[in-house]
Formats: sequence, structure tokens, C-alpha cells
Amino acid sequence: AKFTVVEHPLIKHKLTIIRDKNTSTKDFREVTNEIAMLMAYEITRDLPLEDVEIETPLTKTTQKQLTGKKLAIVPILRAGLGMVDGILNLVPSARVGHIGLYRDHDTLEAVEYFAKFPTDIHERKLFVVDPMLATGSSANAALDILTNKYNCKPENILFVSLVAAPEGVQAVQARYPEVDIFTAALDERLDENGYILPGLGDAGDRIFG
Ligand code: PRP
Repeated sequence: AKFTVVEHPLIKHKLTIIRDKNTSTKDFREVTNEIAMLMAYEITRDLPLEDVEIETPLTKTTQKQLTGKKLAIVPILRAGLGMVDGILNLVPSARVGHIGLYRDHDTLEAVEYFAKFPTDIHERKLFVVDPMLATGSSANAALDILTNKYNCKPENILFVSLVAAPEGVQAVQARYPEVDIFTAALDERLDENGYILPGLGDAGDRIFG
């Protein structure tokens, strides 16, 4: 599967804003969605197209339209919610499924507390979104739920983060080699508490308090 750091000057500039500890909740929220919207341009790059015949005001013509699987965005609560609206700006018909996970602060294991998906989730192409990919235990737990309980196929899933640690990328690639991973930045490492360095702190807390 592919691992892609989405490179763009606007993304770099906006990442600096959300990394800054002096950025307000309001700005963090807005800019997180803006980065997600810019990433949506890249994560949809390989969507399949088919020919369609239309008439312009002047003539008949064959053009392109999207075909293939319908889309769903799956935010990992809470922080993943901060990326949903930005992506929906570009793919407004996508459905949204929700997975609630929190990290046990002692074990760093992800604990599920909520899961609710559109009924046809297994037929859709999925963008699982979470601003932070740290140890990867939340990402892998979300992928376990989707593939084991809801019959989603790993090859139909993309994982999208803003900031990723190498440890988390490796953990997801080891367990789900078919899942493409996109991130706006690949950071240096995890600290002893499992936080990404330099990172952006705790995205859930910075968006919701
Ligand atoms: C944070 C973050 C990810 C997870 C990443 O969530 O939003 O979901 O940790 O860490 P991992 O890769 O080591 O699993 P947190 O548990 O703080 O919950 P929150 O989003 O509700 O704040």
C-alpha cells in the first residue's frame, strides 16, 4: 500500500499554525478543517472516472464523471470530527460513520466506546480520519472494527492523519498492509507518554477542551 506525505505550501503553513501552542481553539478548529480540505484533493486523486455523454449549450460531448464505490468518511472520535467538514466540502455526498475510541493513559491501548455506521458501509470506499497517528493503536483498533465487525475490505480503506509518528505508520502498515496512509506531516518520534514530537499536543483537547 502507499504511504504519502501530502506536500503543499498551504498545508505546511497551516500545520505550523495548529502546532503553535498559542493558537486558539477557534483557530485550531478552523485550520484543522482547512488542512483536511486540502488533503481531500489528494486522497481523492485516484477515484475512478467513466465517460458520460452530455450536451453543452452548443453541442453533444463525451466527458467524465465519478464512478465506482460511493464514499464514507469515518472520523475516530473525538479529534477526527475536526476533519470531517473540511473533507465534506469537496465530497459533499459522502456518508459519515463514527468510531469512538480513547487511549488508556497507562497502557496506551485504544478502548472502544462508540461505533455507528451507514448500513452500506462495507460497500463504500472509506476515509478513516484522525489528526494524530501516534502509536497506531487507535488506527488499528478502528480498522479492526471496520474489517472484523462490519466486513469492510482493507483495500477499500484509506487512513488520513495530519501528523504521524514513524512508530504509528509502521504499526498500521504491519497490521494492515493494504491500507493506504496519507498524512500532512511525518514527525520525528513519540515521547515516553506516547505523544508525537514535535506534534501538536492533544488534538481532541485542543478542538473540544
Ligand atoms: C488521540 C488522537 C488519536 C489517538 C492517537 O485521541 O486523537 O485518536 O490519540 O494515538 P494512538 O495512535 O497512540 O492510538 P485521544 O485518546 O486523546 O482521544 P480524543 O480524540 O477523544 O481526545
